[in-house]
Amino acid sequence: MKITVIGAGNVGATCAQAIAEKELANEVILLDIKDGLSEGKSLDMWQTAPIHLYDSRVKGYTNDYSKTAGSEVVVITSGLPRKPGMSRDDLIATNAGIVKSVTENVIAHSPDAKIIVVSNPLDVMTYVAYLTSKIDSRKVFGMAGILDTARYRAFLADALNVSPKDIQAVLMGGHGDTMVPLPRYTTVSGIPVTELIDEETLNAIIERTKKGGGELVNLMGTSAWYAPGAAAAQMVEAIVRDQKRIFPCCAWLTGEYGLSNIYLGVPVKLGKAGIEEIIELKLTDDEMNLLKQSASAVKEVMDVYDSMSKASV
Ligand code: NAI
Ligand code: 2OP
Repeated sequence: MKITVIGAGNVGATCAQAIAEKELANEVILLDIKDGLSEGKSLDMWQTAPIHLYDSRVKGYTNDYSKTAGSEVVVITSGLPRKPGMSRDDLIATNAGIVKSVTENVIAHSPDAKIIVVSNPLDVMTYVAYLTSKIDSRKVFGMAGILDTARYRAFLADALNVSPKDIQAVLMGGHGDTMVPLPRYTTVSGIPVTELIDEETLNAIIERTKKGGGELVNLMGTSAWYAPGAAAAQMVEAIVRDQKRIFPCCAWLTGEYGLSNIYLGVPVKLGKAGIEEIIELKLTDDEMNLLKQSASAVKEVMDVYDSMSKASV
């Protein structure tokens, strides 16, 4: 089995390393447009194999898509990351062009692949990959919810002084400041989080989670990669091991939650076929209003992309 990661930058390289360490495929292909970058990073990674004791072969290529042929899963991380002061949406024009050309090449060589998009602005880049690939929407989805819930769970673990392993949470909506963490669906080993934490602290954690990406951009001058790379690798694992795991992922909605023709973060079942089910939670009116606000924010950026692509025809 072959898995490809496009973009050998911070997120792509971290993701490829996690895939190799988990031995999710015999071959892990890392591809970048920058001469020598994938070759160098994959050689460095392969030299960790005798230390970490894995035998997934990591190979790097500069823009040679023939080497990605027959991939079971392709993770797209190519694109510019956020710099301080930039919103995810500022990235739209540049990254849409990159995601479009990458997807054309990916699908030409791996028509049956499941495609996981990571590039930002996430929900809209997933839409670009879907439109370009012309494949079933259940095979084209985006990574954001696992990362955003991981941040939320990590903050809660600190506040409660408990293991992050014991915190389960769902978060919905777009990958941006309008994301919708759901305290009603957050538990600590089955105990509703609202029984363990006061409202003010919980609200502060929710606000910090919404701005979690920006917090890291401000600290590092570029966006995060350890948790994003690990989150994308967790999606790959659920697919190749057919785990049927329930994760928040960016999925194409066709009427679920009363929303259609939009990519948005919702809980899904992830397995061999890709998104095998979209789970519809019973939301309160307040939660539904927040989800709709988030959907409107994503739709605005989708509309920007649609008018840009019409203008360029
Ligand atoms: P990076 O700059 O470290 O790496 C991006 C790589 O893409 C570079 O090596 C670049 O040469 C490559 N690239 C550019 N155009 C290409 C093309 N046409 N074909 C192949 N490779 C190409 O950036 P980083 O930190 O890895 O972030 C990657 C993307 O992921 C950014 O758009 C960032 O905003 C996004 N991101 C999304 C997250 C999410 O939760 N969905 C979380 C973190 C980052
Ligand atoms: C993140 O959430 C910026 O999307 C990137 O870290």
